[in-house]
Amino acid sequence: MSIILAIESSCDDTSAAVLRDDMLLSNVIASQKVHEQYGGVVPELASRAHEQNIIPVVDGAIREAGISKEEIDAVAFTRGPGLMGSLMVGVSFAKSFAQALGKPLIEVNHLQAHVLSHFIDRGEPRPQFPFICLLVSGGHTQILLLKSHFEMEVLGQTIDDAAGEAIDKAAKIMDLGYPGGPIIDRLAKEGNPDAYRFATPQIPGYDYSFSGIKTSFLYFLRDRLKEDPDFIEKHKADLCASIQKTIVGFLLKKAERAAIDHKVSQMAIAGGVSANSLLRSELQRICDKHHWQAFIPPFKFCTDNAAMVGIAGYFKYLKGEFADISLPPYTR
Ligand code: KG4
Ligand code: ZN
Repeated sequence: MSIILAIESSCDDTSAAVLRDDMLLSNVIASQKVHEQYGGVVPELASRAHEQNIIPVVDGAIREAGISKEEIDAVAFTRGPGLMGSLMVGVSFAKSFAQALGKPLIEVNHLQAHVLSHFIDRGEPRPQFPFICLLVSGGHTQILLLKSHFEMEVLGQTIDDAAGEAIDKAAKIMDLGYPGGPIIDRLAKEGNPDAYRFATPQIPGYDYSFSGIKTSFLYFLRDRLKEDPDFIEKHKADLCASIQKTIVGFLLKKAERAAIDHKVSQMAIAGGVSANSLLRSELQRICDKHHWQAFIPPFKFCTDNAAMVGIAGYFKYLKGEFADISLPPYTR
């Protein structure tokens, strides 16, 4: 039996979690509102907010878990990728906390953590190897072939923007607010997904490209706004539904292809964009069609959280893979 304290601070969420083996005891997340007014994460403000949040968040996670500090067996932390200033706060805190307790450190890769969130014990079936995971966040878009917990073959990835970034930029073009993902998801529910068509680029293999979709969306709106300055306001829901369908369709078409080609019958999604309702329902529909199993994370494990860092840390703990206190964070 092991108790792991996990810390995540790679972007704009400060989070701490406690796990007993693969069971989650607590998962506290402080989201930073300060970035909304700027329409994107401001790195300097993010690290400042992490500094303010980290102690109450860790304290909250320990209290909520009902454990004492002394019971912690190891401290897991996100080492990267992420924003340097943000990572620094979590990494330094984890190091000093572990040292004060005399416990080992475990470094965790943020992307692996997103994928491994599927292995947190929720009393439900977990993926079996090999399986395909579509990892979609604000910073990454990858099709991964999982061969074991830490063997992830990157079959394809974006050559420019990430899927979440594309969605956020589309929202920004329409002046909907930040982060745009959840707003577009909500507005799309009232719109017609076939109202407008946006071409997806021809990229070979399992790779993606999103910058062209964003540009064609921008030019499309520019032309319409010349004729009608209220075009966006009037057709907001249809625009959201159409751009969401374009992006989700593109994402899943390649992921489905990858599963067929690799004769894999299980597909998972992970990362912030996996909170998207269309992506979730379409993944389920595709898997049902092929008689595959779909793994869709609960909402709280989609966007950045320390629970996923904790489960990744737990698997490393089992292998005895501990980190040296001198390890610096990495941004990519
Ligand atoms: O994984 P995450 O929290 O942070 C990164 O590691 O990037 O992902 C954040 C991204 C943002 O782009 C956000 O707009 C997107 O996830 N997102 C969504 C939804 N909820 C969050 N995108 C589409 N639909 C959603 N419901
Ligand atoms: Zn993330």
